[in-house]
Amino acid sequence: MSDIFNPNISNIQEEKQENVLRPKTLDEYIGQSKVKKKMKVYIEAAKKRGEPLDHVLLYGPPGLGKTTLANIISNEMKSNLKITSGPAIDKPGDLAAILTKLQAGDVLFIDEIHRLNKNIEEILYPALEDFTLDIVIGQGPTGKSIRINLPKFTLIGATTRAGSLTTPLRDRFGIVERLELYDEKDLATIVKRSAKILNIDIDEKAANEIAKRSRGTPRIANRLLKRVSDYALVLGDGNINLEITRTALDNLDIDEIGLNATDRRLLDALIVQYRGRPVGIETLATTLGEETSTIEDVYEPYLIQIGFISRTPRGRVAMPAAYEHLGISIATDESISGQLKF
Ligand SMILES: Nc1ncnc2c1ncn2[C@@H]1O[C@H](COP(=O)(O)OP(=O)(O)OP(=O)(O)O)[C@@H](O)[C@H]1O
Ligand SMILES: [Mg+2]
Repeated sequence: MSDIFNPNISNIQEEKQENVLRPKTLDEYIGQSKVKKKMKVYIEAAKKRGEPLDHVLLYGPPGLGKTTLANIISNEMKSNLKITSGPAIDKPGDLAAILTKLQAGDVLFIDEIHRLNKNIEEILYPALEDFTLDIVIGQGPTGKSIRINLPKFTLIGATTRAGSLTTPLRDRFGIVERLELYDEKDLATIVKRSAKILNIDIDEKAANEIAKRSRGTPRIANRLLKRVSDYALVLGDGNINLEITRTALDNLDIDEIGLNATDRRLLDALIVQYRGRPVGIETLATTLGEETSTIEDVYEPYLIQIGFISRTPRGRVAMPAAYEHLGISIATDESISGQLKF
């Protein structure tokens, strides 16, 4: 699988570049207008009260701007930001240490919060609810539980899968917001903004073309911009126009609506291999040689959004738009077989 399409996979160099491209204020944050509008109100109200913001849970597919938004919130609140992630917290003591070091008004960002261990998660409950921490000193019958008061802070949790969060944890967030896939107009604006920051010259049509093929995801749009810019440097004078963009994206095997080889294999499996019948996620994952979580987090959201596949209780099914895109007529089992192979 090409890394370009998997917003879950990044390297240190890309992470550094991402920081350069991250908007710093809500006004600079493009799209997500509903979330932005609400966050503005909550932030202003918290400031007027002189209180920290309620705990915030941000969820949605990878690369849509959860980390970016967490940074912006702490910036707008003029708070210190402490960053950690679910898998980075090994023991309950690790989380206790983080919590006791917080100062009043700090924002604690826990990325991939669904990956916190249950016994660690339980420490969070009183911390979020009453800003207290219960710690046990000593072991066995002589062990004593003591309660420590914590300063009032804001937890921002981010997750690609809100469904994997336990109910008690989810219930402790006062603000729960889902980030949506971006429309083409917003993605084009993001591409133009990033190009400006990176000193890349791109015309309007080329920006729209990249937007169209970015699967609703800013991280992919920024990646495609960089790859197309490479082509522009090698094939031309470095300026990006529509022709170079098309050549580059075709070479990357991204079709005109942003689908890549794995997307097409997935649709092919549903339509041809399993003959249009519902297919369970495990079966689909095995067929494609991918993790179920990669299919659920990376591939499905966009295919569902554009109406190509549907999740049914009996499994995943391809929708008429997918048949049409692949040039297959919706037909009986017999006539499908052998029509299209990749
Ligand atoms: N609303 C936006 N406006 C402009 N750029 C954005 C926006 N949202 C995201 N980006 C860009 O997309 C990149 C990825 O965003 P970010 O890292 O915040 O995604 P994420 O949701 O945290 O992803 P993950 O689930 O993988 O952690 C950032 O570098 C940022 O430049
Ligand atoms: Mg992130």
